[in-house]
Amino acid sequence: MRAIVAPDRESGAEGLALTDRPHPHAAENDVVVRVRAAGFTPGELDWPGTWTDRAGRDRTPSVPGHELAGVVTDLGYGTTGLTVGQRVFGLADWTRDGTLAEYVAVEARNLAPLPADLDYPVAAALPISGLTAWQALFDHGRLATGQTVLIHGAAGGVGSLAVQLAREAGAYVIGTGRARDRSRVLSLGAQEFLDLESERLEDAGEADLVFDVLGGSILERSAALVRAGGTLVTIAQPPTVRPRDGRAVFFVVEPDRGRLSDLAARVRDGRLEVTVGEVLPLEEAAGAFLPGKRVPGKTIIRVTED
Ligand SMILES: NC(=O)c1ccc[n+]([C@@H]2O[C@H](COP(=O)([O-])OP(=O)(O)OC[C@H]3O[C@@H](n4cnc5c(N)ncnc54)[C@H](OP(=O)(O)O)[C@@H]3O)[C@@H](O)[C@H]2O)c1
Repeated sequence: MRAIVAPDRESGAEGLALTDRPHPHAAENDVVVRVRAAGFTPGELDWPGTWTDRAGRDRTPSVPGHELAGVVTDLGYGTTGLTVGQRVFGLADWTRDGTLAEYVAVEARNLAPLPADLDYPVAAALPISGLTAWQALFDHGRLATGQTVLIHGAAGGVGSLAVQLAREAGAYVIGTGRARDRSRVLSLGAQEFLDLESERLEDAGEADLVFDVLGGSILERSAALVRAGGTLVTIAQPPTVRPRDGRAVFFVVEPDRGRLSDLAARVRDGRLEVTVGEVLPLEEAAGAFLPGKRVPGKTIIRVTED
């Protein structure tokens, strides 16, 4: 099968190449999926799991990409809940070959059925951003109706979905970002927008939950904005600071079949808008990891057509 292969950590994005790879095997509780559309994270070549298996053993060369939408072609021994020929979407395992390949072996529990009226590229753009936004707001942040949430990077992949989900849950939403993001963030449902390039973060006031996706000095300055008893949730890096009277939580997104189905239902009925950016063929996937012109939205690779 054709796949994008990263030969070793040192070569970085420049080393990525479209190559032939063996067809994956469906291990116990796995499915093999013919990948129609895939998502990746440009920074994933720096993640430890890209280069090692669950036991920490070297697994180079590696196939990147952790989001997929496609069709099940094979079931491993003991796999339940999905069938051959079913449309699915979800997350690939962090420590196995990924989704920039014509076929991928994935634990079945990472995937949810894909409704017939959701396009493959939209479905491939949803798993990481959607599950991360949900888990940050509700599982870790315990956001409740009537509370105030401040969401950094509110026009980005995770932030834009967090704004919509928080607003739907009846929270008061303050989004932050660059000046050019203001109208987009307000149109997604935020009641206020703070331009981090020209306004003082400290003027945002207090929030029950601050959700940081940026890290660095923004994260450090965010702890002071958390109201007593509130929470700072961060995903870019573990917290370097804590709220004086509150919790600080760093987490890595986890697969969740039921939640994926809930998110898909929201996309179908228009409550949730996912912004797909460029949709590129597999031949152009390696180039998409390199810094270049910026197209808003999540870049999706259309891996196979049939
Ligand atoms: N721990 C986890 O499980 C997990 C899960 C998902 C994502 N992540 C991480 O979370 C981060 C965000 O992911 P994402 O997909 O949402 O990224 P993204 O789509 O690039 O969104 C980030 C947003 O923040 C804006 N931004 C960046 N720096 C800024 C600054 N200094 N001032 C104002 N705005 C700024 C960006 O604007 P520009 O595009 O204009 O720069 C963009 O709108 C990434 O580091 C990602 O790896 C972690």
